[in-house]
Amino acid sequence: MYEKIQETTAYLKTRIKTQPEIGIILGSGLGNLGNQIEVEVAIPYGEIPNFPVSTVKGHSGQLIFGKLGGKNVIALQGRFHYYEGYSMQEVTFPVRIMQAFKVELLIISNAAGGMNPDFKVGDIMLINDHINMFPDSPLMGPNDDRLGVRFPDMSEVYSKELILKAHKIAKANNIFLHEGVYAGTSGPTFETPAEYKYFRAAGGDTVGMSTVPEAIVARHAGIACFGTSIVTDLGIANQVEKVSHDEVLIAAKAAEPKLTTIITELLKSL
Ligand code: HPA
Repeated sequence: MYEKIQETTAYLKTRIKTQPEIGIILGSGLGNLGNQIEVEVAIPYGEIPNFPVSTVKGHSGQLIFGKLGGKNVIALQGRFHYYEGYSMQEVTFPVRIMQAFKVELLIISNAAGGMNPDFKVGDIMLINDHINMFPDSPLMGPNDDRLGVRFPDMSEVYSKELILKAHKIAKANNIFLHEGVYAGTSGPTFETPAEYKYFRAAGGDTVGMSTVPEAIVARHAGIACFGTSIVTDLGIANQVEKVSHDEVLIAAKAAEPKLTTIITELLKSL
């Protein structure tokens, strides 16, 4: 994998003039946050050596280099999900590229089901911790010491300092935020009522099918994380409702302006 990372990074370096400082992964329905980026170059995944190709509706599939909030960013518009059949290493390959570019911070967004009874559709939650409920880890197998340590510390996956900053930004902009734990599962099924109950009992506030592998690799790489969930549907006690991918995309889109403000202002403050 190390050689593949070098090859891909060398190719990308031929396409850009400015080195990215911050990585961003735009989740379901949040692709338009990418439109706020002053684009230097947007490269379709198909053109990038060793990159997987995204297959899900709502994920347009390009790697954007540009400026957001005055910072040089590298943004994934469309992520790779485990349920698409990619290995954990493929899902997280873009984070390894960000590592090769020496980004210091990874901003991760997702659409998720709300399990905390205080949550409503359209709410935003700052992720302060996660639970890996995937049947796998991107760090399984022999460890490459050039990429990180064998047993990475996970005591502060999501930067407390940035969470504090985001709360201040939200307050100043009249945006209501929750904070809580994201439970990451493989999907592709949405949860049964019993599974929502189980993930809630385990300590999850939101549940979704991404983010955890990316955050694990970021921490392995020594990259700080800032993560957000947009609550797109609810799996709460006895009021579990039917959920569809289209509804998830619509709810995520509605919350997008608030999230755009928080992330842009956060970048400006760094
Ligand atoms: N469960 C899992 N993934 C999701 C959900 C959910 O309820 N909503 C959006 N992504």
